[in-house]
Amino acid sequence: MARSPVDLPRMQDQARPRVTVAHGPSLVPLDAEAAPKPRKPLLMRQYDLIDRVKQYNPAANEDLLNRDFSEQATGKAMDTLQINVTVNGRAYQRRVEPRLLLSDFIRHEIGLTGTHVGCESGVCGACTVLLDGLATRACCMLAVQADGRRIETVESLGRANNLNPLQRAFWEMHGLQCGYCTPGMLMLMTELLRENPHPDRETIRLRLNDNICRCTGYEDIVNSVVRAVELMRGETAVR
Ligand code: FES
Ligand code: FES
Repeated sequence: MARSPVDLPRMQDQARPRVTVAHGPSLVPLDAEAAPKPRKPLLMRQYDLIDRVKQYNPAANEDLLNRDFSEQATGKAMDTLQINVTVNGRAYQRRVEPRLLLSDFIRHEIGLTGTHVGCESGVCGACTVLLDGLATRACCMLAVQADGRRIETVESLGRANNLNPLQRAFWEMHGLQCGYCTPGMLMLMTELLRENPHPDRETIRLRLNDNICRCTGYEDIVNSVVRAVELMRGETAVR
């Protein structure tokens, strides 16, 4: 039977097997994954934001989280709040809408676009920054929650002509392909290396499990972090 062009996409959709998207390739050894872990939801609607903030940032300011700033609740256009943050050692004072994500604040208010945004759901880790030294998903936090806090982004690490050891190691060991995940990976590994300057491969792999890379297969990222440890020990001969 002839099919109209209008029917075709629908039929193709029906024929297509349903794909369940998992959390990306896991770096945790199989035996460590034997016990089922609760999965984070992959897709969330905008109005789930507060739940998301609570889930990923349990220490978040409860008062701010529970206040309803919507136009419907307040009867007026959404107000702005003043925040003071230190980003890469520089103090910023800005008025922002309470709904503004920290990732958007960093990229659009401060202009530091090295922090990438991938899933905006807390899954991929592309938006990872250090908040008071702790790796934090900037897409899962409101800018107002960062008031009074210290933020470090990938721009704090080094410059093209003066890479820090971790960046140099990624460059030497080809720890990236498209590079989209790289800022998040660098900040996640910065946190690890500050905590533990001599991590073994297994420790690196376990921590990398927090972030997703769609390109590298992770092995060269692990090699890069191992190389960064060597560079930090002063073993600087180019490989
Ligand atoms: S953009 Fe994916 S976790 Fe933030
Ligand atoms: S290098 Fe492309 S996503 Fe990691």
